[in-house]
Amino acid sequence: MEQKTFRWKQFDISFFDVGTGVPVVLVHAFPLNARMWAPQLKELQKELRIIAMDLPGFGNSDPIPDVLTMELGADIVNAVLEHLRIETATIGGLSMGGYVTMAFARKYPGKMERIILANTRATADTDEGRQKREEVAQQVLKEGTTGFVEHMLTLLVGKSTRTKNPETVDFVRQIMLEATPKAIAAAQRGMARRPDSFDVLGNLEVPALIIAGEEDTVTPKSDAEAMLSAMKQATLFTIKKAGHLTNIEAPAQFNLALSSFLTEND
Ligand code: MLT
Repeated sequence: MEQKTFRWKQFDISFFDVGTGVPVVLVHAFPLNARMWAPQLKELQKELRIIAMDLPGFGNSDPIPDVLTMELGADIVNAVLEHLRIETATIGGLSMGGYVTMAFARKYPGKMERIILANTRATADTDEGRQKREEVAQQVLKEGTTGFVEHMLTLLVGKSTRTKNPETVDFVRQIMLEATPKAIAAAQRGMARRPDSFDVLGNLEVPALIIAGEEDTVTPKSDAEAMLSAMKQATLFTIKKAGHLTNIEAPAQFNLALSSFLTEND
């Protein structure tokens, strides 16, 4: 599938833009890139317009110097919309992509028609979590990413997929291995700085789809339930036999959840 590129400030930003119809923007997880949305780009383009960008430093987008804040991610989402002359869209993301989506909701609420929050959380990091992120940043800058990628695979991919679906594990591994040490460090430092977003979610006046993975240990169902109770118009969909990367591990269930949500909230 072909990616397009445009220039924003000093960065080249790469993105997919496939299908026609209602525009849905999908923001990738850490440490992946827009290619993680392959199952959605392929299937959902039959009914929707799916747009998925590489955040700076990931995939084919230019790197940023030190810190990839979630707010900068939101600015990139907005830049893609402006580039494509789309005024309002459904914005969604998985995990780090969810943090970026919440930052978008904080900064550009008028441009959001619906919100999709998959395998993510609205809380900020604890002090301990921030410290861990800084350790990871320093570790990958010093030692490279291979060990970190193998560690992340066991965390992000659910038990069922790991035991039954080695090709999926390898697909995720290949995408993660494309991330540079600098991008990983910048994203860790950026995620560490994100604020708590329950205030933003509580004020949102748009329909929301929250997705959780039955086997997700990174953002367990309690994180999804906390977002659900904070929001006015939210639905929670739990994906069976999937860990953190629900859209890759169980694409049929994920795509059905997304397309039903759009039909029900047309
Ligand atoms: C992700 O999947 O994007 C990350 O695990 C999120 C995080 O590190 O908080």
